[in-house]
Amino acid sequence: MKILIINGPNLNLLGTREPDIYGGKTFEEYFSHLQFKFRSLELSYVQSNIEGEIISELHNADKTFDGIVLNAAAYTHTSLAIGDAVKAIETPVVEVHISNTHAREEFRHKSFIAANAKGVILGFGLKSYDLAITSFIKDEE
Ligand code: DQA
Repeated sequence: MKILIINGPNLNLLGTREPDIYGGKTFEEYFSHLQFKFRSLELSYVQSNIEGEIISELHNADKTFDGIVLNAAAYTHTSLAIGDAVKAIETPVVEVHISNTHAREEFRHKSFIAANAKGVILGFGLKSYDLAITSFIKDEE
Protein backbone atom coordinates (compact mmCIF):
# COMPACT_ATOMS: atom_id res chain seq x y z
CA MET A 1 0.00 0.00 0.00
CA LYS A 2 1.29 3.44 -0.98
CA ILE A 3 0.62 6.41 1.30
CA LEU A 4 1.65 10.01 0.63
CA ILE A 5 2.04 12.56 3.41
CA ILE A 6 1.64 16.18 2.26
CA ASN A 7 2.69 18.92 4.66
CA GLY A 8 1.77 22.54 4.05
CA PRO A 9 3.28 25.91 4.92
CA ASN A 10 5.70 26.38 7.80
CA LEU A 11 5.76 22.68 8.65
CA ASN A 12 9.32 22.59 7.31
CA LEU A 13 10.14 24.52 10.50
CA LEU A 14 8.95 21.80 12.87
CA GLY A 15 11.50 21.35 15.63
CA THR A 16 12.08 25.05 16.09
CA ARG A 17 8.67 26.59 15.33
CA GLU A 18 6.56 27.20 18.46
CA PRO A 19 7.82 24.00 20.15
CA ASP A 20 5.31 24.42 23.00
CA ILE A 21 2.57 23.74 20.41
CA TYR A 22 4.28 21.61 17.77
CA GLY A 23 7.03 19.84 19.76
CA GLY A 24 10.79 19.72 19.37
CA LYS A 25 11.16 17.10 16.63
CA THR A 26 11.76 17.82 12.96
CA PHE A 27 9.36 16.11 10.58
CA GLU A 28 12.30 14.31 8.97
CA GLU A 29 13.12 12.70 12.34
CA TYR A 30 9.51 11.68 12.81
CA PHE A 31 9.22 10.44 9.24
CA SER A 32 12.13 8.02 9.83
CA HIS A 33 10.20 6.64 12.79
CA LEU A 34 7.07 6.25 10.63
CA GLN A 35 9.04 4.50 7.88
CA PHE A 36 10.38 2.02 10.40
CA LYS A 37 7.05 1.46 12.14
CA PHE A 38 5.12 1.05 8.87
CA ARG A 39 7.91 -0.73 6.98
CA SER A 40 5.42 -2.94 5.17
CA LEU A 41 3.96 0.19 3.51
CA GLU A 42 5.44 2.49 0.90
CA LEU A 43 5.46 5.88 2.61
CA SER A 44 6.34 9.09 0.80
CA TYR A 45 6.51 12.62 2.11
CA VAL A 46 6.44 16.09 0.52
CA GLN A 47 6.28 19.57 2.01
CA SER A 48 5.40 22.84 0.30
CA ASN A 49 4.85 26.41 1.37
CA ILE A 50 2.97 27.12 -1.86
CA GLU A 51 -0.78 26.57 -2.25
CA GLY A 52 -0.67 25.66 -5.97
CA GLU A 53 2.08 23.12 -5.39
CA ILE A 54 -0.02 21.38 -2.76
CA ILE A 55 -2.92 21.24 -5.24
CA SER A 56 -0.63 19.76 -7.92
CA GLU A 57 0.69 17.18 -5.42
CA LEU A 58 -2.92 16.13 -4.75
CA HIS A 59 -3.66 15.85 -8.49
CA ASN A 60 -0.47 13.88 -9.18
CA ALA A 61 -1.07 11.52 -6.26
CA ASP A 62 -4.57 10.64 -7.44
CA LYS A 63 -4.84 6.94 -8.33
CA THR A 64 -1.07 6.58 -7.83
CA PHE A 65 -1.35 6.40 -4.06
CA ASP A 66 -3.86 4.42 -2.00
CA GLY A 67 -4.18 7.15 0.59
CA ILE A 68 -3.09 10.71 1.31
CA VAL A 69 -2.41 12.19 4.75
CA LEU A 70 -2.76 15.96 4.41
CA ASN A 71 -1.73 18.62 6.88
CA ALA A 72 -2.47 21.76 4.87
CA ALA A 73 -1.47 23.85 7.93
CA ALA A 74 -2.82 27.43 7.70
CA TYR A 75 -4.24 26.77 4.21
CA THR A 76 -6.73 24.45 5.92
CA HIS A 77 -8.55 27.50 7.19
CA THR A 78 -8.34 29.61 4.02
CA SER A 79 -8.05 27.50 0.89
CA LEU A 80 -11.23 26.70 -1.01
CA ALA A 81 -8.91 25.56 -3.82
CA ILE A 82 -7.24 22.85 -1.73
CA GLY A 83 -10.67 21.78 -0.46
CA ASP A 84 -11.88 21.52 -4.09
CA ALA A 85 -8.78 19.50 -5.05
CA VAL A 86 -9.47 17.02 -2.25
CA LYS A 87 -13.04 16.72 -3.55
CA ALA A 88 -11.88 16.33 -7.15
CA ILE A 89 -9.62 13.30 -6.64
CA GLU A 90 -10.53 9.69 -5.97
CA THR A 91 -7.71 8.76 -3.61
CA PRO A 92 -9.01 9.18 -0.05
CA VAL A 93 -7.52 12.00 2.01
CA VAL A 94 -7.26 12.08 5.79
CA GLU A 95 -6.84 15.60 7.20
CA VAL A 96 -4.42 15.82 10.11
CA HIS A 97 -3.25 18.48 12.53
CA ILE A 98 -0.60 18.28 15.18
CA SER A 99 -2.44 20.63 17.52
CA ASN A 100 -6.08 20.58 18.55
CA THR A 101 -7.19 23.41 16.30
CA HIS A 102 -10.59 23.56 18.03
CA ALA A 103 -8.90 24.46 21.32
CA ARG A 104 -7.08 27.37 19.65
CA GLU A 105 -8.11 30.67 18.02
CA GLU A 106 -11.52 30.72 16.35
CA PHE A 107 -10.02 31.23 12.88
CA ARG A 108 -8.49 27.76 13.20
CA HIS A 109 -11.87 26.11 13.79
CA LYS A 110 -12.89 26.38 10.13
CA SER A 111 -11.59 23.76 7.66
CA PHE A 112 -12.11 23.91 3.90
CA ILE A 113 -10.86 20.33 3.70
CA ALA A 114 -12.81 18.42 6.35
CA ALA A 115 -16.09 18.12 4.42
CA ASN A 116 -14.28 16.44 1.53
CA ALA A 117 -11.89 14.34 3.61
CA LYS A 118 -12.40 10.74 4.57
CA GLY A 119 -11.80 11.77 8.16
CA VAL A 120 -9.99 14.22 10.39
CA ILE A 121 -7.42 13.48 13.10
CA LEU A 122 -6.12 16.32 15.23
CA GLY A 123 -4.58 17.17 18.54
CA PHE A 124 -2.36 14.14 19.12
CA GLY A 125 0.93 15.85 18.32
CA LEU A 126 2.96 14.13 15.60
CA LYS A 127 1.13 10.94 16.52
CA SER A 128 -1.81 12.34 14.48
CA TYR A 129 0.12 11.20 11.37
CA ASP A 130 0.60 7.70 12.82
CA LEU A 131 -3.14 7.46 13.54
CA ALA A 132 -4.01 8.67 10.03
CA ILE A 133 -1.78 6.03 8.42
CA THR A 134 -3.27 3.37 10.70
CA SER A 135 -6.75 4.39 9.56
CA PHE A 136 -5.81 3.35 6.00
CA ILE A 137 -4.47 -0.04 7.14
CA LYS A 138 -7.71 -0.82 8.93
CA ASP A 139 -9.53 -0.40 5.60
CA GLU A 140 -7.76 -3.45 4.22
CA GLU A 141 -8.72 -5.79 7.04
C1 DQA B 1 -1.60 22.98 12.09
C2 DQA B 1 -2.68 23.91 12.68
C3 DQA B 1 -2.86 25.15 11.80
O1 DQA B 1 -3.85 25.99 12.38
C4 DQA B 1 -1.56 25.93 11.73
O2 DQA B 1 -1.71 27.02 10.86
C5 DQA B 1 -0.41 25.06 11.32
C6 DQA B 1 -0.30 23.72 11.86
C7 DQA B 1 -1.32 21.78 13.01
O3 DQA B 1 -0.76 20.81 12.51
O4 DQA B 1 -1.63 21.83 14.21
O5 DQA B 1 0.49 25.53 10.64
O6 DQA B 1 -2.09 22.47 10.85
